[in-house]
Amino acid sequence: METVVSGIRSTGNLHLGNYYGAIQNFVKMQHEYNCYFFIADLHSLTTHPTPADLHGNIKQVLVEYLAAGIDPERATIYIQSDVPEVSELYLYLNMNAYLGELERATSFKDKVRANPDNVNAGLLTYPVLMAADILIHKATKVPVGKDQEQHLEMSRTFGNRFNRLYNKEYFPEPYAFNFSDNLVKIPGLDGKGKMGKSEGEGNAVYLSDSPEAIRKKVMRAVTDSGPTVENSEKPVEIQNLFDIIKVVSSADTYEHFDNLYNTCQIRYGDLKKQLAEDIIIATAPIRERINDIANDTLYLRQVARHGAIKARESASRTIREVREIIGFKNF
Ligand code: TYM
Repeated sequence: METVVSGIRSTGNLHLGNYYGAIQNFVKMQHEYNCYFFIADLHSLTTHPTPADLHGNIKQVLVEYLAAGIDPERATIYIQSDVPEVSELYLYLNMNAYLGELERATSFKDKVRANPDNVNAGLLTYPVLMAADILIHKATKVPVGKDQEQHLEMSRTFGNRFNRLYNKEYFPEPYAFNFSDNLVKIPGLDGKGKMGKSEGEGNAVYLSDSPEAIRKKVMRAVTDSGPTVENSEKPVEIQNLFDIIKVVSSADTYEHFDNLYNTCQIRYGDLKKQLAEDIIIATAPIRERINDIANDTLYLRQVARHGAIKARESASRTIREVREIIGFKNF
């Protein structure tokens, strides 16, 4: 059975991008594959969270994984820092990761541009830690959103480089995965980039948002005064809304508003009202479970402990072999 690995950073509440790009696939894949889903708390250290914030955010992701339907009996759910073998593999892989290729990563360049005062080494080697997360379980399928495609390419590079260096077909090649073939990119509501946790208030709809909050955010989404020429190309902010409708709403709804747009009869207020209601319906089962799960500390502790044990079984096997391959042998 193929192995699947994916993770989400503990940097705040999960949003529609995390759901449609990643979690929705996690929930489906757990029935077909040997799955490891983790909380990337080490990755989140690049932005220097306070201990209290870090702890709260780790818990929040764990709660939302469970609320979204990831079943700890089917998939291994764990916290990255509970598996120290990952950090060890990260160290080994770092020896064969080069400054030039790390500096060229789009995500690194974006982070440098956004926050030039905090260009730390953890940020630079972020893709190496990500490769360690995946290779530690020898995974071949990695359910992620479109923004992670380059990181997956780098994971293959680092794994293949290790194999070549030690002349051994050890690590398999991991590929980004989505059931619908195309990787998903959910745009933000601000009419510009992708939906993200750090892109500014109102840009992201969170899985824990109340129906009122969802309505408010969607109604405030950026639009324009409407098309004046039939069948004209949609400007970016309108295309973004249609992109969200495509994944959240039914095909009929998409077609309905697309026709209205193409015949210059569209009223964006109606479109946004429909979109808000569809988001509310799509997220209801998750939202309704979040509070109950969050209050069940014993259950959360049990899931995290059980997950750590299972993840370490697989990770320690790999690390033992890797040490041996590298030349760390007992006398
Ligand atoms: P993070 O926390 O930034 O994102 C978690 C997942 O959500 C997806 N995602 C999106 N998908 C579509 N549209 C969006 N607007 C959107 N925003 C976020 C991301 O693609 C991702 O799948 N580096 C990873 C965390 C990680 C990881 C790994 C993933 C660390 N190690 C190993 C897979 C395997 C990340 O982007 O986290």
